Amino acid sequence: MRILFIGDIIGRVGRRAIGNFLPKIIDKEQIGFVIANGENLAGGIGITPDTAKELFKMGVDVITTGNHVWKKKEIIPYLKEEERILRPINYPELAPGRGFGIYNKEDKKVGVINAEGRIFMNSLDCPFRTTLDAVEEIKRSTSIIIVDFHAEATSEKEALGWFLDGKISALIGTHTHVQTNDDRILPGGTGYITDAGMTGPVDSVIGINKDIAIKRFLSQMPYKFEVAKGEVELNGVIIDVEDISGKCINISKIKVKTSQI
Ligand SMILES: [Fe+2]
Ligand SMILES: [Fe+2]
Repeated sequence: MRILFIGDIIGRVGRRAIGNFLPKIIDKEQIGFVIANGENLAGGIGITPDTAKELFKMGVDVITTGNHVWKKKEIIPYLKEEERILRPINYPELAPGRGFGIYNKEDKKVGVINAEGRIFMNSLDCPFRTTLDAVEEIKRSTSIIIVDFHAEATSEKEALGWFLDGKISALIGTHTHVQTNDDRILPGGTGYITDAGMTGPVDSVIGINKDIAIKRFLSQMPYKFEVAKGEVELNGVIIDVEDISGKCINISKIKVKTSQI
């Protein structure tokens, strides 16, 4: 199975880029399943039912999220009812929503898990143990398993990649919004990249207006963020998975300016 993973989609400009180019990419690359991180879908921070539905209509099969998932309150009832949206699995049990799911597509089953790091982030349950529990549960139904590890620290991402090597098809990092050049297949057959990058404006500070970002750093005051304007780049990875074993046979980065697609 060929899976496309799209990094954090930033606001309306990111959604528009996905709407224009996702069908072309699915067709050209013969993609069988699409996962996208949507924690920045609505106004650059948070996600709403409407923005999530927009993405599903465009061909996204599963939306993962991260630390910004709770930002827009209207998502809370939707997280409970819509199985195709995940929030990080290692939030306490009282948090609404789910952290993993098993999805049917083209007579195959794909397991997807979303977890959040703990270094420079929220103090959550252990992402290692909670993810491993979900992997073991999913394994009873399918060996195709993709983990979105939404985390700040490269060390934590690499450690979870090694911890799960041979147990999952791929671990894809998100949250830092800058694509890393370390896509590889680990010895046990798990595809890995520290960060898939974002789908958002290029001339920005991780998607937001660069002047506002600089002003915040200079003044240490909470000026309101705005999504930057200008050219949008689509970032992600394509993962080829052997259906029976669930092993990754290829992982390759996508990084393309939408004017070039
Ligand atoms: Fe993000
Ligand atoms: Fe994040």
